[in-house]
Amino acid sequence: MFFFIGCGGWFGQVAALHVSLTEYVLVFNTVQETRGFSGRYWLNITDFVIDGWLEQWRERSFEVENFTAGVTVHHPWGSAAGVRFGAGSWFLEYGRGFVPSSMFFASADTFFSTHDFVSWFSMMHAFGAGLAHEAYLFVEESIANLQDAR
Ligand SMILES: *[C@@H]1O[C@H](CO)[C@@H](O)[C@H](O)[C@H]1NC(C)=O
Ligand SMILES: *[C@@H]1O[C@H](CO)[C@@H](O)[C@H](O)[C@H]1NC(C)=O
Repeated sequence: MFFFIGCGGWFGQVAALHVSLTEYVLVFNTVQETRGFSGRYWLNITDFVIDGWLEQWRERSFEVENFTAGVTVHHPWGSAAGVRFGAGSWFLEYGRGFVPSSMFFASADTFFSTHDFVSWFSMMHAFGAGLAHEAYLFVEESIANLQDAR
């Protein structure tokens, strides 16, 4: 269930494997080479390069780091970088922190610039379903706690 995601200038496709309020796991793929701004998140993001490559130009740095297949790339929370993804690259991405904070950046270009509401709804569905599930579990647990307290 891949859907297009474009933000900060880069463009690719994503399949969400797991989404909760504090963690997500997804597969990111790009068929064409693409580059742009990484985004600055309230999340620690770890990317495992399955195939292809990723260049990272970190803030206040004057060189690019190049990460190729088999390498793990860290993007600590609050940091930003220029990124460039090679054509035909695949990544397994793990994010940990406050997940809803990333959704505004991740969806803003699609919503306000490209107006691709099909991709936008896919993104909201993939992320919203995970968050809704979490909210449901929270309510269920709260009710169980109330019942125990009686
Ligand atoms: C990074 O590696 C890829 C694949 O080997 C290569 O095509 C690209 O030019 C490299 N980038 C830099 C800055 O060396
Ligand atoms: C993110 O990484 C920093 C530095 O390694 C750590 O102090 C912080 O607890 C991490 N946050 C989460 C939510 O894992």
